[in-house]
Amino acid sequence: MSSHETVIPLSSLRRPATLDGIPSDQLGRYMRDLRISITDRCNFRCAYCMPKDSFGRDHVFLSHNEILRYEEITRIARVFVSLGIRKIRLTGGEPLVRKGVESLIAQLAEIPGIELTLTTNGALLTRYARALKEAGLQRLTVSLDALDDDIFQEMNGVGFPVRDVLAGIDAAAAAGLTPVKVNMVVKRGVNDHQILPMVRQFRRSGHILRFIEFMDVGNSNDWRTDDVVSAREILDQIGTEFPLEPVDRAYNGEVAERWRYVDGAGEIGVIASVTQAFCSDCTRIRLSPEGKLFTCLFATRGHDLRSLLREGRSDEEMAAWISSVWQQRTDRYSEIRGRAKAGRPKIEMSYIGG
Ligand code: GTP
Ligand code: 5AD
Ligand code: SF4
Ligand code: SF4
Repeated sequence: MSSHETVIPLSSLRRPATLDGIPSDQLGRYMRDLRISITDRCNFRCAYCMPKDSFGRDHVFLSHNEILRYEEITRIARVFVSLGIRKIRLTGGEPLVRKGVESLIAQLAEIPGIELTLTTNGALLTRYARALKEAGLQRLTVSLDALDDDIFQEMNGVGFPVRDVLAGIDAAAAAGLTPVKVNMVVKRGVNDHQILPMVRQFRRSGHILRFIEFMDVGNSNDWRTDDVVSAREILDQIGTEFPLEPVDRAYNGEVAERWRYVDGAGEIGVIASVTQAFCSDCTRIRLSPEGKLFTCLFATRGHDLRSLLREGRSDEEMAAWISSVWQQRTDRYSEIRGRAKAGRPKIEMSYIGG
């Protein structure tokens, strides 16, 4: 991963432009959400993320020594919280394949003033849901792209059955990790005819189903504009059978546009990162498994925080460095997608966790 590396020397730090200590970037955006990818490994091989051919036997995953230890992640998280971070989401790869994840959650849950969540493919949830809740996780998001077993098994690349993910969602709800959000990535000609079956499954369940436009993340998913089913098309398809009305965003910087069924059967969301980019209030920063900071999901290079940590820098020095990284941020990839130059390879979704 050395090609993704940039180290900003501590000597070049500028005084941060801040609001009550919270740094603002070059486009006036504040840092509020931290997404921590704890592993680049996954037990699925979704074609739009880790296709089997490019993530087969030859793919080199990060080694145990390279990835941050749980104590290191927790220390970094505390520094971020001192800079205004209010939500931490654990991602992967698949976060539940990393051993002892509940002990990381227990450490993070001790940090006051944060919302603690996790995004998972659900495969291991029946086993872990209760332990995650007991460790202090507040809620979670499960990815599920189809209700039809053949389609889902084909999409996840490892033949994993739908019923086990549904059982995982039930286990999460029973453990009190609510509301459970269910993410469906929609790809034209692959699972777009599963939109209505998914709607029927999750209406009145209390879970929030969210449809995600297929994105051009990473380098291996063979993305084409024609494969994107727009949020507008998705809403039109649902609205003809189940009329919808808009709901205000829950918080500034929320990626999903919210809608509710007029008949009171609950709420859905659409994440239109291709057709209605939301960069202008993007408050997210991402930490990779081996301790690099990425200021955009579509970044080509990261900033090496692990070196500072392992060199023995103080929390204050790390905070100043992170502020400087954020302050220099100009990212708005989704807004300029068509004009973005092809250059270095982008980071993979399975490495940075969406
Ligand atoms: P909550 O609103 O707190 O439930 O979380 P979330 O929507 O931020 O998290 P989740 O992991 O469920 O993300 C939903 C989808 O939105 C995933 O496909 C993400 O990759 C995508 N997404 C999240 N943040 C960004 C972002 O900053 N830019 C883009 N382009 N997509 C994003
Ligand atoms: N486009 C849109 N969403 C994606 N995800 C993974 N790859 C893509 C892609 N190419 C989703 C996962 C998960 C979330 C974190 O990102 O399905 O729900
Ligand atoms: Fe699928 Fe998520 Fe695993 Fe990627 S990280 S292969 S989207 S389950
Ligand atoms: Fe934020 Fe980059 Fe996504 Fe835009 S494309 S919303 S800047 S992560």
